[in-house]
Amino acid sequence: MDADRRDELKRLAAEQAVQLVESGMVVGLGVGSTAIHAIRRIAALLESGALRDVVGVPCAASVEYEARALGIPLTTLDDCVTVDLTIDGADEVDPRVNLIKGGGGALLREKMVAQASRREVIVVDATKLSPALGTIYPLPLEIIPFGAHATARFVAGLGARTTFRRTNNGDYYRTDQGHLILDCAFGPIDDVESLALALERRAGIVEHGLFLGLATDLIVASEEGVRHITVSTGAQHTLCTSHNPAR
Ligand code: A5P
Repeated sequence: MDADRRDELKRLAAEQAVQLVESGMVVGLGVGSTAIHAIRRIAALLESGALRDVVGVPCAASVEYEARALGIPLTTLDDCVTVDLTIDGADEVDPRVNLIKGGGGALLREKMVAQASRREVIVVDATKLSPALGTIYPLPLEIIPFGAHATARFVAGLGARTTFRRTNNGDYYRTDQGHLILDCAFGPIDDVESLALALERRAGIVEHGLFLGLATDLIVASEEGVRHITVSTGAQHTLCTSHNPAR
């Protein structure tokens, strides 16, 4: 599938998600090339008057900048009692609709906003669907710079090939919080819950990109159309995978 077609599918999924947004809602604004389509659509609906009094909670500084430029009123997690609905992308989705996120480096804020949201709507094209997390995408960890190589050795001991994320000019990539991102290629992960616990117990790992049991809705666009799945906790959902190893 070429990049333009894939972007079109991302737009279709994102725009379907925006149909869940109602006037007066506090909406979490996710990060990435899929979520940006939702942000643009929300801005257009606010401008036309089809939506009113929507305020956004951006999941990254870059999203805050984009949303401001598009005229979406913003608030913060501190200033809102609850987030009604968040629309965000994902890097990989398994049949239980557990996710790998953090390809854009925003996993910490994304997880905080997801945990504060009544509804976490994940929008993807079908190339993100996978039988087991870790098959398509390395797991990003947000780690503190102190002892970063010791942290990397710990994670390697859990079975991952680790790489510090870098910017195009070769510098270490820094998150909005000034931390580093360690990309961890585990291959297909047998037991995501155990891995999440092991990572959560280790000082120096601020957050990991496993989003387990957080998605309430999955909207997938493929050549066959757009599908909306309401997630049942713990259930296996039948997701047709369209695995693209070249990604
Ligand atoms: C940002 O940190 C990520 O979690 C993104 O939501 C994820 O990488 C999906 O991005 P795309 O929609 O650009 O693939």
